[in-house]
Amino acid sequence: PVLVVDFGAQYAQLIARRVREANVYSELVPHSMPVDEMLAKDPQAIILSGGPASVFEPGAPRVDPKLFDAGVPVLGICYGFQAMAYALGADVDKAALGEYGKTDTTIDKTDGLLAGSPAEQDTWMSHGVAVKTAPAGFEVLAHTEGAPVAAMQDESRKLYGVQWHPEVKHTPFGQKLIETFLHQCAGLPDNWDASSIIEDQVAKIREKVGDAEVICGLSGGVDSAVAAALVHKAIGDQLTCVFVDHGLLRKGEVEQVKHDFVAATGIRLITVDAADDFLEALKGVSEPERKRKIIGEKFIRTFEKAQRQVLEEAGARGKEVKFLVQGTLYPDVVESGGGDGAANIKSHHNVGGLPKDIKFQLIEPLRTLFKDEVRAIGTELGLPDEIVWRQPFPGPGLGIRIIGEITRERLDLLREADAIAREELSRAGLDRDIWQCPVVLLADVHSVGVQGDERTYGSPIVLRPVSSEDAMTADWSRVPYDVLATISTRITNECRQINRVVLDCTSKPPATIEWE
Ligand code: XMP
Repeated sequence: PVLVVDFGAQYAQLIARRVREANVYSELVPHSMPVDEMLAKDPQAIILSGGPASVFEPGAPRVDPKLFDAGVPVLGICYGFQAMAYALGADVDKAALGEYGKTDTTIDKTDGLLAGSPAEQDTWMSHGVAVKTAPAGFEVLAHTEGAPVAAMQDESRKLYGVQWHPEVKHTPFGQKLIETFLHQCAGLPDNWDASSIIEDQVAKIREKVGDAEVICGLSGGVDSAVAAALVHKAIGDQLTCVFVDHGLLRKGEVEQVKHDFVAATGIRLITVDAADDFLEALKGVSEPERKRKIIGEKFIRTFEKAQRQVLEEAGARGKEVKFLVQGTLYPDVVESGGGDGAANIKSHHNVGGLPKDIKFQLIEPLRTLFKDEVRAIGTELGLPDEIVWRQPFPGPGLGIRIIGEITRERLDLLREADAIAREELSRAGLDRDIWQCPVVLLADVHSVGVQGDERTYGSPIVLRPVSSEDAMTADWSRVPYDVLATISTRITNECRQINRVVLDCTSKPPATIEWE
């Protein structure tokens, strides 16, 4: 793999994605990982990400110079570039001029890393520290007003660095630079795409499963549908899908999933009605992490209970179900604190929310992938657009969209409001522009309203439409005012207890997409 060493930037994720967009496989590792461990992963190239620290301050993360002697091509970006220069003995200090945002950049030498690059270009920067002189053996490739060395290379050792952020879209030649580093400087082939991922996974799944029976927890979302289709391609009829109705689903969801999924894939599907069980376990609980853990555990217990029925349907009585397939994605793993060294932002029900004593072994063929890669695989596997382009919906469902305790009445209310919002956003043709639009009930908040000349004291509904590429970062969607007006009017007319509809206009970060 190409290793992306995370120095605590939000950009490390983005770098990993851009590498994969260049058709090369990448993995994130924390900066705290010892160099020997990194090298043990047999990296084809290493990219050092940006980060918030100042390299010359005490306690700042450093790079072990050993990394530069291993013969592996290295690209340092922003902080990673400064850390590289510092480790190799260059003069790195406070910049005479900090540069934030779009920056005029002069390219002094258009070869190697900057081959084919225009002599003047805009780059996107964010730095108050500058590399003043290049380390011995390096040539300076570019400079700006605030960065005497804005890019450098030592072609003989295959070491490269840039002060700017090539991974952000605001750097017009950024992706080209990443591709040049990977394909020309490091000589890596273009071999990571949907069909190679499928081939590789199918072989791995066959080997792991043998002739055992397998179940797949289907949520109705893209990820579990693609995971199921992939496993089905590998082992055919040994797979049974289980769709759990936990009472936290949206209006019409059970029927829709049953219909769309079976029609598209022909995979054996059983549905389990576990609403009473889930709602009982969630009674009185309003703390988000507890909700998530309870839901994660209940899913597993429900799959365990469904085992007998699965074996009967599969005509495999007397055998046992050995594996559980989940559609876990890379961002779920990273946000649940499972990416090496990442913080636990929230416990995704299928990762951080799993109980310790699981009877099944897990199969998670999408665990290293981003959503856009999963969609490409779904299409390659022949799944229809209605499944592949479905907006994400979290496994814990409406349970994490009622802020406060979950009750049947609150669920019914939220289900109605959510159905109205979805209907109007679709009618306005916004389904593909919007990544997803959580509709959230602030159940314990009350405000005064006037409806039909009467005073009311109801709860607000929050609309949270966002645009995103991979759910790791997001911006709030600028939904046209008239569409918002229609949604607001309909919700307050049709849902009696709602007397206010509000719009969440916060990006991620600092907020997350879901409220819990
Ligand atoms: P956040 O709220 O972390 O959400 O910005 C990022 C994406 O993940 C979805 N999400 C989940 N999906 N199980 C899931 O299957 C979960 O526990 C979970 N929590 C959040 C969320 O809808 C968004 O697409």
